[in-house]
Amino acid sequence: MDSIVVTGGGELRGEIPIAGAKNACLTLMPATLLSEEPLTLTNAPRLSDIKTMTQLLESLGAEAASMQDGQVLTMSSHDLDNHVAEYDIVRKMRASNLVLGPMLARLGHAVVSLPGGCAIGARPMDLHIYGLEKLGAEIDLRDGYLHAKAPRGLKGAEIELSFASVGATENILMASTLAKGTTVIRNAAREPEIVDLATCLRKMGAQIEGDGTSEIVVQGVDRLHGATHPVVTDRIELGTYMLAPAIAGGEVECLGGRISLVENFCEKLDAAGIQVEETKRGLKVARKNGRVSAVDVTTEPFPGFPTDLQAQMMAMLCTAEGTSTLHETIFENRFMHAPELTRMGANIEVHGGTATVHGVEKLKGAPVMATDLRASVSLILAGMAAEGETIVSRVYHLDRGYEKVVRKLSSIGAKIERIKE
Ligand code: UD1
Repeated sequence: MDSIVVTGGGELRGEIPIAGAKNACLTLMPATLLSEEPLTLTNAPRLSDIKTMTQLLESLGAEAASMQDGQVLTMSSHDLDNHVAEYDIVRKMRASNLVLGPMLARLGHAVVSLPGGCAIGARPMDLHIYGLEKLGAEIDLRDGYLHAKAPRGLKGAEIELSFASVGATENILMASTLAKGTTVIRNAAREPEIVDLATCLRKMGAQIEGDGTSEIVVQGVDRLHGATHPVVTDRIELGTYMLAPAIAGGEVECLGGRISLVENFCEKLDAAGIQVEETKRGLKVARKNGRVSAVDVTTEPFPGFPTDLQAQMMAMLCTAEGTSTLHETIFENRFMHAPELTRMGANIEVHGGTATVHGVEKLKGAPVMATDLRASVSLILAGMAAEGETIVSRVYHLDRGYEKVVRKLSSIGAKIERIKE
C-alpha cells in the first residue's frame, strides 16, 4: 500500500485546476441506464470511484468508453442483460446504490446489494426504499440484497423525505422521470450535484422543475434519449485546495471555482481571516500573515457547511488562535481524523457529534493513518503546515476522490511525494 510523505514549511503559490465533481459524476453515470441511447459526460474526474461505477454499469450490460485520458465518458445502455448489482462491486462504494432507481424504472426490476463505502456512519437506505415504494415499487431485503420490482410500472406520487438525503433524492428523481404522471419530492436535497443531475436529465428529455429548491416536481415521460453533459465543478475538491494556502500560507487560485458552490464555507474562511476573491478564472485564496482565527462550524445539508469539508476545516483550525467548535450533524462517526491530528500535536476533544479544537501554535509531523477519503486529505493539509515530515499511510482512500493530488499540490510548491511500500 502506498504512502504519502509531506514535509511542512514554505508558502504555496500558483494555480490548481479543479476537476469535475466526483459525487455529480457518480449519479450522472447511472442515469445512462434510463435510456437506450448513449450518454456522454465531459469534464469527468479521473478517480478510482469512477472506474468502479464503470465496472458496475458494464456488469449490468452497459457499454462504456473513455476518451481524453478519462475526461470524456460515453456510456450506452442499449442492451441491459443483467439486473443484479453484485456485492463484490457495490461493497467498494456506497454510490453504487444509485443504479437502483434507474434500473427499476427502465426494466421494472432490480436487485442491488446493500452498499459499503466510507466507514463514517451507519448510512442506511430507508429513505431510498420509502421513496421508491411510494412510486409503486415492491422492495424486500434478502441475503444482503434489495430485491425491487414494479410489476405494474412506476406511478408518480407525493414523497416527503424526513431528511434531505442526497442519494435518496437522486434515486427517486431518476426513477420518477419514467414514472406515469406527476411526482413531487418534498424536503429534497438541494446540493449542486442534484441540480447537475436534473440538468442532464432534462437534456435527455425529462420534465423536471424545482431542482435546487426543497420541492422537485417531475412529470413522467415515456422514454429518455441520449445527451452530452459537462460535469459540474467539484466543490469539495475546490474547498480542499482553498484550504491549502489557508493552512500553509501564500496565495493560490483555484481554477473553475465559484463562490456559489461554497458560499457558507467562504463565510467561515472570511471569519478565520482568509481572503477569498472571485476572479474570471476561479477563486483566489490568500493568507497573508499571522495565525487564522478560531471559528465555529456546524455541518448541514446544502447550502450549509458541507460535511465533506469538515475534516479539512478541522486541519486548519488546529493551528488557529483560540478555540473552535465543530458540530457534525450529518454522519455520526466522522471524527476519525481527530486522533490522527492529535498525534501531530493538535489539541482536540471529541464528545459525540462535537469536536472542540484548542488551537496550538504549530503541529509536528508524525506517521498517521488515513481512515476515509476526506480524513486522508485533511492529514495531508495538516502535514503541509507541520514541522518536519508527516507520513500518511493507507492512501488508497485518496485515489477515490482526488485526482493527481500529489502533482496538483507539488505544482503550488508543497513538498509532497508518493512512495510505494
Ligand atoms: C452523499 C455524498 C457524500 C456526502 C453526503 C452528504 C455522493 C456519492 N456522496 O452521500 O460524499 O458526504 O451526500 O452530503 O454523492 N440517511 C438515512 N437514510 C437513507 C439515506 C441517508 O438515514 O435512506 C442518512 C445517512 O445515514 C446520513 C445522512 O442521511 O447520516 C446523509 O446521507 P445522504 O445525504 O444520503 O448521503 P449520501 O447520498 O450517502
